[in-house]
Amino acid sequence: MDEWIEKINNTCDIETLENIRIELLGKKGILTNEFLKLKNIPKEEKKEFAKKLNIQKHLITTALDEQKTFLEKELLKQKLKNEKIDVTKFNNSLQCGALHPVASTMDTVITYFQNLNFSVEEGPLVEDDFHNFEALNLPKYHPARDMQDTFYNKDYTLLRTHTSPVQIRTMLKQKPPIRMIAPGTVFRRDFDLTHTPMFNQIEGLVVDSADKISFANLKHTLVEFLEYMFGDINIRFRPSFFPFTEPSAEVDISCVFCKSKGCRVCSHTGWLEVLGCGIVDENVFKSIGYDNVSGYAFGLGIERFAMLKHNIGDLRSLFESDLRLLGQFR
Ligand code: PHE
Repeated sequence: MDEWIEKINNTCDIETLENIRIELLGKKGILTNEFLKLKNIPKEEKKEFAKKLNIQKHLITTALDEQKTFLEKELLKQKLKNEKIDVTKFNNSLQCGALHPVASTMDTVITYFQNLNFSVEEGPLVEDDFHNFEALNLPKYHPARDMQDTFYNKDYTLLRTHTSPVQIRTMLKQKPPIRMIAPGTVFRRDFDLTHTPMFNQIEGLVVDSADKISFANLKHTLVEFLEYMFGDINIRFRPSFFPFTEPSAEVDISCVFCKSKGCRVCSHTGWLEVLGCGIVDENVFKSIGYDNVSGYAFGLGIERFAMLKHNIGDLRSLFESDLRLLGQFR
């Protein structure tokens, strides 16, 4: 019996232990067999024999139980050791970020115009009435102010509704010839599928001596630019109105989603409006004391360009920071 106890105590895994249990105490086990012998043993020896067997059985089951508990504990210890998390360990699999589609589109447009020798100008986000409206031929109570729902502050300042005030600031600061773009954030009280209260624009302004700048210059610059941005597209200039340009136009490109067949994005017209432009109005030059000059200006919305370039359907998704969307631009 001692041999068996020793064997049990030296067992290293639960499966072997179970096999030993079956070998001894199973239906055909060695000890079970001994118990069966009881009925053939003479009465006087029976008691003694049964006592011996019971003690043996007790010793064996105790040894089996103890060894099983011991092995289970060891197994748990091993498991905990293997599954331990080292929170201080450096994780090499960090994922790289990428530029947001709005930022990368902004960069593309800025670089394009920098290569054409345009300077990059900036202005404040909190503007005054003069720069945002008055100097741009938008006098107080002019109905065209309704085109841009403005956020006003208590001190008569406002959040700029477009990047056009940077035209005024740059012309006051520099002398012609001027060739500039002004990228930046603008604000309007508008919120739906295609409008957010904050978005980004790029303004363009070219000013030179009188009669030097014509609509043909404007058209050439914008056609080249749009073909660079969108590749093989049709472009049309549609007469429009802006207080600060005369004549004014809005520029449409053939729908990049449906190739002009008509879809939800282009409202089944086959065309997408992408920017506003025109020849700088005389009144703008007058308001800042410029004389004998000519110029053109244009303004475009960066988010719209990013959506068209990257096939993004909902403007608001550009501001939701959803990694499932942003991960696609890595
Ligand atoms: N400022 C105009 C807008 O925000 C765009 C524009 C800029 C139009 C310059 C003409 C010339 O809608």
